Amino acid sequence: MLSNIISSQDFHTLYGGIVPELASRSHTEVISKVVDSALETAKSKISEIDAIAVTTSPGLVGSLLVGSNFAKGLAIKYNLPIIPVNHIEGHIFSGNLQKGDTEFPLISLVVSGGHTAIFLVRSYSDYELVGTTVDDAAGEAFDKIAKMLGLGYPGGPAVDRLAKQGNARAYNFPRSMLNQNNFNFSFSGLKTSVRYFLQKEFPGGAPEELFPDICASVQEAIAEVLSIKTLKSAKKFNCNTIVIGGGVSANSRLRQMLLEKSKKYGIRVVMPNMEYCIDNAAMIGFVASKKLSELGADTFLDLDFTVSPNAIRGRKVIP
Ligand code: KG4
Ligand code: ZN
Repeated sequence: MLSNIISSQDFHTLYGGIVPELASRSHTEVISKVVDSALETAKSKISEIDAIAVTTSPGLVGSLLVGSNFAKGLAIKYNLPIIPVNHIEGHIFSGNLQKGDTEFPLISLVVSGGHTAIFLVRSYSDYELVGTTVDDAAGEAFDKIAKMLGLGYPGGPAVDRLAKQGNARAYNFPRSMLNQNNFNFSFSGLKTSVRYFLQKEFPGGAPEELFPDICASVQEAIAEVLSIKTLKSAKKFNCNTIVIGGGVSANSRLRQMLLEKSKKYGIRVVMPNMEYCIDNAAMIGFVASKKLSELGADTFLDLDFTVSPNAIRGRKVIP
């Protein structure tokens, strides 16, 4: 990897979340500079590039359009193949960015602010959704619960930090759907349960000295459901490898629990370094390079593709 430029939009913190219109306007302003600095950092010229990769789904349509139209412009100007990549494909293989090639089939847990899903992955372009959240994503649960405690946005990192000094058994929050015979998740019950708990026990606001215990107990509930269901799916589909990705895969307790539990079954867990857990361009480029070598440049000459806000459903073979 020669460069991985991330342009963060800090102003969303002001609103407690992402404002779609502001996001796409800001993308328009920065995209050209981001591409320039990616090339500059890589000490490369555009004439040395073999192909362009771009995220086309899922996500905010405005932001996806800015990226895909810019990429199409470059592809026309420099006569290059263009590889549309699903953002989730990037998260699936973000751990392999450092670890290299992987063994198929594998089980992938993608956990972010917008997704909580388990995929059975048969190749770099063949994904089957075997479980997903029926309501909130795990990252959303972290963020919403952190907001109740006044910890700011995004809340996951703050909960993780505070939980390190807390007792994970202090409070018993629900592990929804844990004992159901499927690979789906639900996190909205946990969120409601924490809200009622805080209202009932601390109507004037929870004292700060209890934040570590509350955060550790919430984190334990989330990590337990995620790791147990992921492991069960790996056993059911005879996969010896689990890969995790997405912002929540940075969570220290989830990483530790998955490693501990999978060791017993001899299952390998591939986890991204912290910098690749969050959204990044390197993971999109990595998947695209694999598709390019699997399918050849001729597959990617079509500029007639569009963007979509929708996540992967069912089984999908994405070129
Ligand atoms: O993948 P990502 O950067 O963006 C999306 O595509 O959503 O994930 C962002 C999410 C946020 O909900 C954030 O709170 C969560 O990842 N997150 C964490 C941690 N770091 C980021 N959640 C729990 N523990 C963390 N250490
Ligand atoms: Zn993401």
